[in-house]
Amino acid sequence: MTTQEGLKLVERDETGVDTAFRADVLEGLSHEQKAIPARWLYDDAGSQLFEDITQLPEYYPTRAETQILSDQADDFAEMIGPGRAVVEFGSGSSVKTPLLLSAIDPAAYVPLDISGDFLRASAAELSAKFPGLPVHPVEADFMRKVELPGEVADMPKLGFFPGSTIGNMIARTAVDLLRNMRETLGLGARLLIGMDLIKDEDVLVAAYDDAAGVTAEFNYNLVRRINRELDGNILLDALVHEARWNDEFARVEMHLVAQRDFNFSVCDKAFSMNAGETIHTENSHKFNRRTSNMLLLAAGWEPQARWLDTEGRFSVMLAEVKPPRSAP
Ligand code: AVI
Repeated sequence: MTTQEGLKLVERDETGVDTAFRADVLEGLSHEQKAIPARWLYDDAGSQLFEDITQLPEYYPTRAETQILSDQADDFAEMIGPGRAVVEFGSGSSVKTPLLLSAIDPAAYVPLDISGDFLRASAAELSAKFPGLPVHPVEADFMRKVELPGEVADMPKLGFFPGSTIGNMIARTAVDLLRNMRETLGLGARLLIGMDLIKDEDVLVAAYDDAAGVTAEFNYNLVRRINRELDGNILLDALVHEARWNDEFARVEMHLVAQRDFNFSVCDKAFSMNAGETIHTENSHKFNRRTSNMLLLAAGWEPQARWLDTEGRFSVMLAEVKPPRSAP
């Protein structure tokens, strides 16, 4: 059965279990390297924990990107200009989106989100802050091509994808998404995208393993969710949160590391973990100038400008859709 929960489309079986969650967890736990897609970290408790993470002293990306968006308002006004429909992939944050909207004087704002609750809340907040600005929320999965509202059809578009959320995808998924964004936004569109940078390993690992243990709770919350929603009995006290820098793939990985051997079951399926074995729960890729350019170019976006925060920790890139070239 498909139901709308807060306007989020969820497929549930007759016992009320989210079938996509169950399929991902059962499949992910049967691989030699146990791994569960990071999207399942974000139930209500997980989304709140992520909000708490953004306020942590060790978690620099939110502050660094906000600084860029506020410091570079003049550059954005000059390079992007007025009159565009700003299409935000994900619901707007209460801080970052207004910084961009006040810098460029857009003609409309179109937030896209799969969760109707977040969408309505952020659209209402933005409308209150920008009373004259037409706001057209669209409930959609932005990983695919999205049909934009007719009201913005003739306006030039600016895609906005802050937060380095692109870094949570492996390269193939990231390129698919960037390509779909290009399809959604059309020819002549631009994209303003946040991309976190490769830096000192200690700084990166601390950002994902904070002293207050909030990121650890964010990771443990996934186990609680599995035990609650999928009738699991994973021993939470046998698992420890770990953030690891994977230099080969330039990413911070979150893992849950077994402290001893134990057996468990999820939805009546038996699993086991040996001491030292891990469940891989998230990737957060980091970029440099070359790799961020390459990722954008691979999806048909031509980089035009790049701004860093004053400490050089985070980047915001502006790119433009170019018609395909036939020659070098
Ligand atoms: C949402 N995303 C960009 C965050 C990140 O930094 O990769 C998720 C996160 N995971 C742990 N801390 C933050």
